[in-house]
Amino acid sequence: MSQYRAIRGMADILPEETPLWQMLEQTARDVLMAHGYREIRTPIVESTDLFARSIGEVTDIVEKEMYTFLDRNNESLSLRPEGTASTVRAMVQNGLLNASQRVWYLGPMFRYERPQKGRQRQFHQIGVEAFGIPSPDQDAELLLLSRQWWRRLGIDDVLTLELNSIGSSDARHNYKAALVAYLQQHLDAIDDDSRRRLTTNPLRILDSKDAGTQTVLEGAPSISDFLDDQSKAHRDRLAELLSRASLSFVWNDRLVRGLDYYNDTVFEWTTDQLGAQSTVCGGGRYDGLVQQFGGKATPAAGFAAGLERLILLLQVLELQADELTDLYVVSADETTLSHAMAETDRIRADYPGLSVTQHLGGGSFKSQFKRADKSGAKWALIFGDDEVASGLVTVKPMRSDGEQQTLTASELNKFLSRLEQASEESED
Ligand code: HAM
Repeated sequence: MSQYRAIRGMADILPEETPLWQMLEQTARDVLMAHGYREIRTPIVESTDLFARSIGEVTDIVEKEMYTFLDRNNESLSLRPEGTASTVRAMVQNGLLNASQRVWYLGPMFRYERPQKGRQRQFHQIGVEAFGIPSPDQDAELLLLSRQWWRRLGIDDVLTLELNSIGSSDARHNYKAALVAYLQQHLDAIDDDSRRRLTTNPLRILDSKDAGTQTVLEGAPSISDFLDDQSKAHRDRLAELLSRASLSFVWNDRLVRGLDYYNDTVFEWTTDQLGAQSTVCGGGRYDGLVQQFGGKATPAAGFAAGLERLILLLQVLELQADELTDLYVVSADETTLSHAMAETDRIRADYPGLSVTQHLGGGSFKSQFKRADKSGAKWALIFGDDEVASGLVTVKPMRSDGEQQTLTASELNKFLSRLEQASEESED
């Protein structure tokens, strides 16, 4: 019989990896809460049209990468390839945009891309969206918030903020015309894909990895020359706010992003530690999307971070989540196990801050200690025959060089209080 395997590009996240994921997610939750952002959860499936209209009909995502299917009622549905469209839909549908709003979401997204390191077909994003504020202080807050997250993760040193302004739709329209006119003079020197994009989505040519096209692009016009005064003022004020907060960045006038809904500010956080898939987070302003979805005109800005890429980065830097287990409970035989189980239950009730794993299924002390070691526990709690008979219990250090001790019931409680306190302090 053939064995089932996960779908290509869709990975299991195994128990040994989840502590790192949980740490990543918890850090984000803490930072977001500290900035006044609240969580929103939207469905994974939406109408295909929702994504096509917002992300753009001629983008890679919509043209080639969506998981689209007809439901039993012949409606075209798609697995969400990103979270902004769904969030805007939900905010408009539920009438939440009367006041400014700050929200975030976490979950799987789906894109039929060629899988490689840091690129999957099911991947996870934490996204952040802010509605109602047109001024660049909102853009700055989002960027400072992301930096806080990187700092808490310990990865801020290896990330670079790339920033650009792509202006208003008029500016982009004029810039596109100028770019196309320029590239048409160099048709022979650019790659096939870029030639095709000249008529479909010329701005994406700026992303081409082809060496010949890159050379041609060096002489291409820059979007910064097409910005109107309002966009320039927005861009300059953002730069000022960031500099004032010592957030350094590099201007990248080729940065246009792969989704059509942006205007003015766009940005990406990139790293040189991950090879080709170097962007861990991207976003920008999208002042027109709410209105496009039938809401009243509401400015907005946001970003999304790719969690798989952040996990890879944490692994490259050998940053680890704290061990989860505090105590691993072992017992000599069936009689001591029944005592140990009742006692473990009491410890879990009395010391909720401790993580306690009890060894089940019996086995020699040797094999139980092997398990204790593998669990990453800091201490083993040993219920041996003699100890149980005299109302004692032994604690043995598994990680530190503390001493093995045999404790009375009240000494055990003191020990557990101290351990719980230490465990809570290390989480803060
Ligand atoms: P995006 O640039 O398409 O933007 O995706 C954001 C991040 O998701 C990327 O920087 C990358 O880290 C991660 N990502 C994208 N595709 C994959 C993949 N196939 N495998 C692994 N990671 C991936 C958006 O999705 C916008 N909705 C961001 C936004 C929010 N803009 C405004 N608000």
